[in-house]
Amino acid sequence: MASQGTAELRRLLARPYPWVKKPFIVGAPMRIMAGPQLAVAVSAAGGLGFIGPQAKPDQLSADLDKARELVAASTSLRHPLLPVGVGFQVWNGDLKIATSDVEKHKPCAVWLFAARNGQPELDEWTVSLRGASRDTQVWIQVGTLSDAIAAVNSSTPPDVLVIQGSEAGGHGMVKDTAGTMVLLPEVADAVKESGIPVVAAGGIIDGRGAAAALALGAAGVAMGTRFLASSEARIAKGYQDEVVRASDGAKNTLRTQLYNHLRGTFGWPEQFSPRTLINRSWVDHEAGVPFEKLQVLHDEAAKSGDAGWGPEGRLATYVGAGVGLVRSVQGAGEIVENVRTETRDVVKALSDDL
Ligand SMILES: Cc1cc2nc3c(=O)[nH]c(=O)nc-3n(C[C@H](O)[C@H](O)[C@H](O)COP(=O)(O)O)c2cc1C
Repeated sequence: MASQGTAELRRLLARPYPWVKKPFIVGAPMRIMAGPQLAVAVSAAGGLGFIGPQAKPDQLSADLDKARELVAASTSLRHPLLPVGVGFQVWNGDLKIATSDVEKHKPCAVWLFAARNGQPELDEWTVSLRGASRDTQVWIQVGTLSDAIAAVNSSTPPDVLVIQGSEAGGHGMVKDTAGTMVLLPEVADAVKESGIPVVAAGGIIDGRGAAAALALGAAGVAMGTRFLASSEARIAKGYQDEVVRASDGAKNTLRTQLYNHLRGTFGWPEQFSPRTLINRSWVDHEAGVPFEKLQVLHDEAAKSGDAGWGPEGRLATYVGAGVGLVRSVQGAGEIVENVRTETRDVVKALSDDL
C-alpha cells in the first residue's frame, strides 16, 4: 500500500484549516448537543469542531452568532472563514435557510448527512451551499461503500468523505453497513484515486481508536460520543451521567426508532435509525407494552428531570457502541489534546516494537 498516497490525503484534508494540528481530530456535529461552545472549544484546541443541527432549522443562526462571538474572544483562532463547521440533516433541513446561514456566517466546512433521496439531493445541497460560500468545504457522511462511491463519482463531489461505521452513536444505517474496522479500509481503497480524503467516524473514543483509523486509511478522525462527556456539550446532566456510567455497548446499546417516536419525531428516512442505550422504554416495548402506554410513561419521565435517564429511566440516550470507553467528563480541549498525545504514543510504541 503506497503510504505516500495517504500522507498526501492527510495534507489535502488539513490544508483549508491551518490551525488544526496533527493528527486531524474532529468534533462531529451532534443535533442540539454539539453547540457553539463545544465546536469552538474543539477548534481552539487544534481540532475542527462542528455545530450540530438545532431542533428547528431557523434556530441555527443564533448558534452561529454565538460561535462568532466565542471565536472573536479566542486568542488561538484567526481565520478568514468561521473556524468551525456546521452539520445539516438533509432530510429535515431547510436548504433555503441553510444557504442563507452559510452565506452570512461563512463556516469553514459543512457536513451533510441523511438525505432521503440519496446523492441527487446531496448534490443539490452541495451546489447551493458552495454558491453561498465558495471557500466553505463540503463534507458528506456515508455509511456504505456504494454511497461512498456515488458521492465521489457525482457531478459535484464533496471535498471530504466521512465514513461512518455501525458503532456510531446517533443515527446511522439500519442495515447494509459494517463496523469501522472493515468498512473504512474498503472505502479508503475504493475512493483513493479520487483524491478525496476520508475521515473515520464510529467507535473512536481514544488514541487507540484514532491510531487504528489512521492505519486503516483515514486522513482524520471524528468523535461524537466522546464529546458527549465534555463540559461544553449541550446535554442534560442525567444523560451525561449515563454516558460516563454505561459499559458494554455491544450488549447495552441498539438501533431503534422507538425513542424517536416516543419523543414525537417521525419521518426519518427508513434507511436510518439511532443507536441508543437500552432502558425501561425498550425493555417494556420488548415485553409487549403498547406504544400509547410507553408514551405516557415516557412523558412522565421527561418531567422528572435527570432521573429520566438511567437503566430505570425512559428517555432517549443516543450514544455509540464505544460508550464503555468514556469514563469521565473532561473539557473538550483536554479531550482533543489527550487523544492527540495518545495517538502519537500508540503509533510510536508500535513502530518501536514491530
Ligand atoms: C447524540 C448524537 C447526535 C448526533 N447527531 C448527528 C447529527 O445531527 N448529524 C450528523 O451528521 N451526525 C450526527 N451524529 C453522528 C455523528 O456525526 C458521528 O457519526 C458519530 O457520533 C460517530 O460515532 P461515535 O459516536 O462512536 O463517535 C450524532 C451522534 C450522536 C452520539
